[in-house]
Amino acid sequence: MKILGIETSCDETAAAVVEGKKAGEYFTLRVLSNIISSQIDIHKQYGGVVPEVAAREHVLNIMPVIDSALKKAGLTRERAGKKLSAIAVATGPGLITSLIAGIETAKTLGYAWNLPLIGINHIEGHIYANFINANSKSQATNSKKISNTIKFPAIILTVSGGHTMLVSMNGHGKYQTLGETRDDAAGEAFDKAAQLMGVGYPGGPAVAAEAAKFQISDFRFQNYKKLSNSKVKNSQLKIALPRPMIDSPNFDFSFSGLKTALRYALDKDKNWKQKIPSYAYEFQQAVIDVLIHKTIKAAQKYNIKTIMLAGGVSANTELRKQFKEKIKTQIPHSAFYIPKLSYTTDNAAMIAAAAYFHALRKDFTPWKKIKVDCNAKLK
Ligand code: KG4
Ligand code: ZN
Repeated sequence: MKILGIETSCDETAAAVVEGKKAGEYFTLRVLSNIISSQIDIHKQYGGVVPEVAAREHVLNIMPVIDSALKKAGLTRERAGKKLSAIAVATGPGLITSLIAGIETAKTLGYAWNLPLIGINHIEGHIYANFINANSKSQATNSKKISNTIKFPAIILTVSGGHTMLVSMNGHGKYQTLGETRDDAAGEAFDKAAQLMGVGYPGGPAVAAEAAKFQISDFRFQNYKKLSNSKVKNSQLKIALPRPMIDSPNFDFSFSGLKTALRYALDKDKNWKQKIPSYAYEFQQAVIDVLIHKTIKAAQKYNIKTIMLAGGVSANTELRKQFKEKIKTQIPHSAFYIPKLSYTTDNAAMIAAAAYFHALRKDFTPWKKIKVDCNAKLK
């Protein structure tokens, strides 16, 4: 079954064709094409996504992006209606004017090609990025004890620019939100921290790059000679940021205080510009500590068989590495999945992948019912 996926929730115009096959409890999802037109360079000058600008760009880009996705998958416009089984589109959460561009395009193509539509929750899409190539060894780590399929109950930490959520999954389409952020999302916190330090946009990769400099001992040596030896700790540099809500008796998060703590720390330090890597390192580590601690606690409480990461922040190398290490030592019986890097940030392959499992359940969305839901909840 081949599905065309469309994703325009924020500032990426994306289309993909994914082929799903099922045999018993096993399935394979093959990405035949995955085209993304990024608007990062346009929004960079404003320091964030400008919704009106994003929407106009989607309108310009959507048809060429879909055309490329079809061609790359070996389909033509003339034959697409016969070769595809459905069109999937992200319906929310996201920016209303951005989402509309994708939804109206999906409706029109569905009408013209007489194909069923599948509306997909954007977060569900991020979760299903883990199911792409899930059977391959490279995707699953710590997976010696599992068979080649993702086992439930699973827990997913979704960390993106708009969301930080811990979700438990008891089967395809069966979700329960265990906790979420009370204020800023983890990615948003990275973006704001980057803005405070003036290191670039988008903030996540920029902060991560600065933090990586701190981790290189040469940098520490040159910059902190008096203190420095290979064991120099951030505490010796007197940079210590809080780990918000790390010991709270629930699975909620809060990152806006962390960003404020960073701002106060920078305000107090006349020489902060010379120490950006160490501030970035401490900030990143504070976010990582909270995310890992709470996820592992939830996994232990609910006897989880599989832990998955999802969303743009899961592209963070240190987060991926430290998660792997902690799971190995603290809950070795759990399998751990992280999406391939190209499927962590917004893309349409993840939307088509999620849609494949809806299609198996014959869960299609009539075109009259498909609509934008900016604050869509996972159901
Ligand atoms: O999932 P995504 O592409 O879009 C949303 O649905 O929000 O996530 C974008 C977010 C941005 O906040 C970006 O700064 C963050 O993901 N991000 C990262 C990294 N790469 C992207 N955060 C930390 N480290 C990274 N390497
Ligand atoms: Zn996203």
